Amino acid sequence: MHEVRSTHAATGWALKHMPLTTRAVDELAPVLTGRRLAVCLHIEPKTAALVTLLAAAGVEVTLTGSPGTTHDDVADALRRLGVAVHSRRDDTEDDHRRNIGDVLASERDITLDNGADLTIALAEAGIPPGYLGGTEETTTGGIRLRERRTPVAHPVVVINDSRLKLLVENEFGVGQSVVQGFMNATNLMVPGMRAVVLGYGPCGRGVAGTLSRMGARVAVYDPDPMRALEAILHGHRVGEATELLRDAQVVFTATGHPKVLGAREMAVLPDGAVLAGVGHFPWEIDAEALTAATTEVVEYGDRSRRTGYRLRDGRELVLLDGGRMLNLTAANGNSIQAMDLGLTLQVRSLAAVCTGSLSAGVQPVPAAVEQRIATDLVRQLSS
Ligand SMILES: NC(=O)c1ccc[n+]([C@@H]2O[C@H](COP(=O)([O-])OP(=O)(O)OC[C@H]3O[C@@H](n4cnc5c(N)ncnc54)[C@H](O)[C@@H]3O)[C@@H](O)[C@H]2O)c1
Repeated sequence: MHEVRSTHAATGWALKHMPLTTRAVDELAPVLTGRRLAVCLHIEPKTAALVTLLAAAGVEVTLTGSPGTTHDDVADALRRLGVAVHSRRDDTEDDHRRNIGDVLASERDITLDNGADLTIALAEAGIPPGYLGGTEETTTGGIRLRERRTPVAHPVVVINDSRLKLLVENEFGVGQSVVQGFMNATNLMVPGMRAVVLGYGPCGRGVAGTLSRMGARVAVYDPDPMRALEAILHGHRVGEATELLRDAQVVFTATGHPKVLGAREMAVLPDGAVLAGVGHFPWEIDAEALTAATTEVVEYGDRSRRTGYRLRDGRELVLLDGGRMLNLTAANGNSIQAMDLGLTLQVRSLAAVCTGSLSAGVQPVPAAVEQRIATDLVRQLSS
């Protein structure tokens, strides 16, 4: 295996700690080399390490990020490598849509997507000849694709459906990095803090677990009784959202659903409550309801946006970074090892798409891919 390096320091550091992805790209180069890959993924050092490895293996990559999360220095370093990067940190939603179009402007034969914007744009524009299929990183993107009236006509592997990823990246990776983002964004103390986590899927479970291991008092609301039961058994307080939110100092939304923190929930929050987004889209905190109840907006931010909304009844609610994923806006995203696992799932699933061994449709990561990576990871972590 020849060593791939980066002139960008943080990308180089990530590369050093991504043995699984490095091995996968090296091993699968025979099927990946020469492919034209369109990517929509948060642009930061770990994903840049993946793009650097793929570019070194002869994959022709065009790339865009998601609004608000692109590290401009990382994007510039990739441009210097010859990768076409269509994204800037301050891109608006309109810019994002334009970027997606630019990424797809030249014919691509595989896609790697995050939130399904790319896959849906491709289907709406008409699938180019020679297109083989792709991957989708998130739960939310998988739901969007499965809910479409016209089923996808090629294989799309949903990486987030992998049990391995849910455990390593969504639970332990997101748990650590969201709490890190919260601390960076607020400089507030976690031990003793009263936190409410909305949603107890792997992401909410990871955030709640990390907070409580640090000494926060954690309450959880999830309408799914199995998930609520799990939260109780993990030692968290469980109840109705409007009951738990009454004494919340901080609320984390980790549901993947829109407007879960709406007018009804906001009405019971105490003065000064801080609102933080974990889910893929910032829609979980109802911005319209918040704006409608607000008489004055105060910006307390320095590096992070801490926006105070003074409500008509005198209370103030503080929204962090517009409700965007706090681990990406205010921290370095998931840990390198957690991302190494997720990006290896991406590489090995894309290779499976390239071999033509998968049927059309939205589907989970092939069992053989999961088994192989879990075996490698156990070997790596126990040595
Ligand atoms: N921040 C990150 O780095 C990161 C990483 C991976 C995934 N995500 C995103 O985080 C979100 C959650 O992911 P997950 O894998 O935990 O999803 P999941 O679907 O497994 O869990 C979501 C939970 O939210 C619950 N829920 C639904 N409506 C609710 C409501 N109104 N109030 C409270 N709970 C409600 C559901 O019952 C479910 O248990 C998704 O949007 C996903 O794309 C973020």
